[in-house]
Amino acid sequence: MAQTPHPEADWWRQAVVYQIYPRSFADSDGDGIGNIAGVTAKVPYLKALGVDAVWLSPFYPSALADGGYDVDDYRDVDPKLGTLADFDEMSAKLHEAGIRLIVDIVPNHSSDRHVWFQEALAADPGSPARDRYIFRNGLGPNGDQPPSDWVSHFGGSAWTRVPDGQWYLHLFAPEQPDFDWSNPEVRDDFRKTLRFWSDRGVDGFRVDVAHGLAKDLAEPLRSMPVIPELDIQVDGTNPLFDRDDVHTIFEEWREVFNEYSPPRAAVAEAWVPTTRRALYARPTELGQAFNFDLLREDWDAEGFRKSITENLAESAASGASSTWVLSNHDVIRHPSRYALPTGLGREGLDEWLLSDGLDPLPDHAAGLRRATASTLLLLALPGSMYLYQGEELGLREVPDIPRDQLADPIWLRTGHQLKGRDGCRVPLPWTVARDAAGGSSFGFGSGGAHLPQPDWFGQFSVEAEEVDPDSVLALYRTALRLRRELQTTETLEFETSVPTDVLSFRRPGGWLVITNFGTTPVPLPSGEVLVASGPLADGQLPGETTAWIRE
Ligand code: GLC
Repeated sequence: MAQTPHPEADWWRQAVVYQIYPRSFADSDGDGIGNIAGVTAKVPYLKALGVDAVWLSPFYPSALADGGYDVDDYRDVDPKLGTLADFDEMSAKLHEAGIRLIVDIVPNHSSDRHVWFQEALAADPGSPARDRYIFRNGLGPNGDQPPSDWVSHFGGSAWTRVPDGQWYLHLFAPEQPDFDWSNPEVRDDFRKTLRFWSDRGVDGFRVDVAHGLAKDLAEPLRSMPVIPELDIQVDGTNPLFDRDDVHTIFEEWREVFNEYSPPRAAVAEAWVPTTRRALYARPTELGQAFNFDLLREDWDAEGFRKSITENLAESAASGASSTWVLSNHDVIRHPSRYALPTGLGREGLDEWLLSDGLDPLPDHAAGLRRATASTLLLLALPGSMYLYQGEELGLREVPDIPRDQLADPIWLRTGHQLKGRDGCRVPLPWTVARDAAGGSSFGFGSGGAHLPQPDWFGQFSVEAEEVDPDSVLALYRTALRLRRELQTTETLEFETSVPTDVLSFRRPGGWLVITNFGTTPVPLPSGEVLVASGPLADGQLPGETTAWIRE
């Protein structure tokens, strides 16, 4: 007999999900590192913000070779961040506040301190312990050349040699050995982990590097001297990324998710072209996949229109719901991206970071205007919105962290050619003054902050913005409250008779959304203005502004 679906089985389809990078959110014990109890203490803040769910970046035991994405033990909490009891308390408090909880799962690689990798190092070449990872003999007469020309995302070879002469594969840092997903033991252990957290009441999973798990390891290993990024061949045959056979893994995961009621939700981090993304998001697999298109798109009406149209079509075709992302823990915060000249591209942005944010000089006012206009536009779209901690404050990137304090492995592994991602991971400012609450970290904690916060952080603090009705925080709160009332079926109709610099669409129920990407004001459509990303005057929508209108 077919079971009736749980009434809240689809809660994730149009949720607003708030990403917490726990080490930089709030520190309750004064060791300079944010922790689980810090999140629990801020549940009232999250409730007032109005988010539907929290996504918690890794909080597992880790030596932090890659900010926690190097996991020692998938079924425990890092003692620096708390205990499993603290986790349960946080989960209970979030649920009491009506907020769901998504945890990050890192299946492509463990850390080199994971018990399995330690066993592998102690075992002989060819042993079952080594077969959970990817060990190979080297090339050349003495085997002292890496088994292939594959490179790590963080720079350098993707192979590291161990004392007995074999090499192991790591697509990221050497401290992050890749699992061999063709090994049934690996597959079973991850299903056990999914059940471990699902049994504890976790509502869903964010799946790290989902496109990397399946690999073609047939000898000779195929040559691939550069990471293909988003230009991956779209036929699923690349040796390392987005292979067709990766999908059987997520079909098995779906069976686990469906053991629960409501079924556990999931979202793939898959850096693949738009046309391949929906495969991960099929209802028989993860349900959603991050749409990263706008992370690479300038502030431009046509680019937004194209991304919106393509993503809605792709997800509708697969039965998934769309996702929208402007910032996360891996990219330059969007108010800073939008403050820079268009067309810089990824390399231009990297150079800007290397100039400590001075070349080119950002136009911060324009950056913030465009950032809030984009947020309001995306919040009105069908599908889920993923927010990154601090964006609700309008926080900018910190591009000038002193070089000797940079912690991202990218900085070291590229021989100081790239700074990496620390600038978006600086601990949040909660108070106006640096030394409020006995600390020197804008209320982050009483023991300072693990990455230095600039002086301007205070004016972006929660304390400053809570009392300012025109703050970015006030705008996010209003928009999230209204969105709960307005969000309906996942459909949208573009308004076609608008200037090229304007994007406008209707959602069911008389909800009209209009964004002016240009700088010249345009007439406001008739109706009641529910919220706008900036001040309106004389029946006009100023440049770089979004408004929601009830017709
Ligand atoms: C993902 C994470 C990133 C991490 C990498 C390796 O891309 O978002 O922060 O460095 O995976 O786990």
